[in-house]
Amino acid sequence: MQNIVILVSGSGSNMAAIVRAAERDNWRKLHDARIAAVISNRPDAGGLKLAAAEGIRTDVVDHKRFDSREAFDAELARHIDAHQPALVVLAGFMRILTPGFVARYEGRLVNIHPSLLPAFPGLHTHQRALDAGCRFAGATVHQVTAELDFGPILAQAVVPVLPDDTAATLAARILTQEHLLYPRAIADLLPAL
Ligand code: GAR
Repeated sequence: MQNIVILVSGSGSNMAAIVRAAERDNWRKLHDARIAAVISNRPDAGGLKLAAAEGIRTDVVDHKRFDSREAFDAELARHIDAHQPALVVLAGFMRILTPGFVARYEGRLVNIHPSLLPAFPGLHTHQRALDAGCRFAGATVHQVTAELDFGPILAQAVVPVLPDDTAATLAARILTQEHLLYPRAIADLLPAL
């Protein structure tokens, strides 16, 4: 069985979309894969409740308890490795990862970012796309490398930017696409792991 561990920091809507797709498309049978655990760096992350409601194991490694990124990442890795994951999925996991952590999961660590990378890595992507006058925006699923929001692109979704868009309306349009894109990208990746 290929274990998937999902890391979240916030509402966890991408995680929930992946969990729903795994159920709907029977990843256990099709890919011999299952969502083994959802881990958050924030005890109050909404995603934890959603995951628990789906019967998935949840775990917290609170980054505030650590005085360095290295110490936090080492403990996080210990919690992840307890599940012997074939794939680690960052789904709104808002932490900068140390090079050591990224190297440990090389080739089996993926992220979704709400922009058409390599445009707009980092934060405030939607407002930055609006400020730049972009006519199109979107989301990118990519392998994680040591550089923030970089690494080989696995899949992208494109949405139009509409004349009266705000960062919030654009974010909502992109998020709807993220929920389709991320499960599909993961399902495509599983046979190759
Ligand atoms: C998503 O839009 C995701 O692309 C973004 O955070 C949101 C999480 O929402 N991730 C990043 O900005 C990572 N750089 P969710 O918790 O509802 O899935």
